[in-house]
Amino acid sequence: MILLGIETSCDETAAAVLIDGAVRSNVIYSQIAKHAPYGGVVPEIASRDHVKKLPGIIEEALSGAGCTFAQLDGIAVTYGPGLASSLLIGYSAARALSRRLAIPLTGVHHHEGHIYSVFLGENPPVLDGAFPMMALLVSGGDTKLVYMKEPGHYQIIGQTIDDAAGEALDKGALLLGLGYPGGPIIQRTAEGGNPKAVRFPRGLDNVGGEWKYEFDRKLCFSFSGLKTALLYHVQNHPETLADESRKRDLIASYQEAVADALAVRLERALEQYPCAAFACAGGVSLNKVLREKMKQLSEKCGTPLHLSSPKLCTDNAAMIAGAAYIKLSRGYPFTAPDDVNPNLKLKNWAD
Ligand code: KG4
Repeated sequence: MILLGIETSCDETAAAVLIDGAVRSNVIYSQIAKHAPYGGVVPEIASRDHVKKLPGIIEEALSGAGCTFAQLDGIAVTYGPGLASSLLIGYSAARALSRRLAIPLTGVHHHEGHIYSVFLGENPPVLDGAFPMMALLVSGGDTKLVYMKEPGHYQIIGQTIDDAAGEALDKGALLLGLGYPGGPIIQRTAEGGNPKAVRFPRGLDNVGGEWKYEFDRKLCFSFSGLKTALLYHVQNHPETLADESRKRDLIASYQEAVADALAVRLERALEQYPCAAFACAGGVSLNKVLREKMKQLSEKCGTPLHLSSPKLCTDNAAMIAGAAYIKLSRGYPFTAPDDVNPNLKLKNWAD
């Protein structure tokens, strides 16, 4: 089965071709340089750039895979969650192509793409022995723990109650004047720093008060206090930023707090739910410190870990076609969405 994947949910314009679930091309155009002056993604700029770039990116994905439009068996497109105006560009292109080529279209939830990206590569995906699986999704827009007793069955057991992990890194970097996006810049500038130099908070554990969320508090994340702690630290110790070594230590400590808050809750989840494996996916899963913590956790618990290859961590279309392939190959039909849904919820395949 030859599938074309299309992803335009935020600021990456991406297309990919998968043959029987194996990634044959994965073309990503990042708009980061266009948004960097504003310190975040500007929806109007994003959608206009998708319109300009998507046709060329699709053609590049096809030629990279050595195939033609006529050889495609179907198209998979992200239809949510994300920025409405960005989602619409990929969705409209996918829908038009599917009609013109008379091939089926299927809609994919962006987070499903991230989750199944851990199984993708140059060979067809192998999911045997990985379920039940705990997935930690860490991106710029979301942070959640998803328990999957089988592929296509999603139970959200914890999530952030404020900022996402990527957002905490992006906002922290902006606050320190480091630029956008924060995750990679923080990783780079923290290199060689002492992650224990400043003790930052790790989320909700020491905070009292009423708990109004449906999830177990011990499995939920909170990064807004961490960001505020960074702000206060900089205000109270302005000299830190003038000293390169202290600045490096501060950034390393901030990065450590984000990674640690994620790892601690994942470990609790693995203690509470029977798992054959666990996965960490999404843009932040590129982070070296977090990847190392995940590997240590895997050794400690004796539970196998699945991580995406670096090119599949941040937004891409291979993960969208890959999620579609895994679903279709289990006998589920193509389901073309009627529209995009910026607030799309994860839905079980069987429902
Ligand atoms: O998954 P993604 O590409 O987009 C969303 O679906 O949100 O994730 C983007 C996020 C950004 O917040 C970015 O700062 C973060 O991933 N990120 C990283 C790294 N590379 C990207 N965070 C930490 N370390 C990195 N190396």
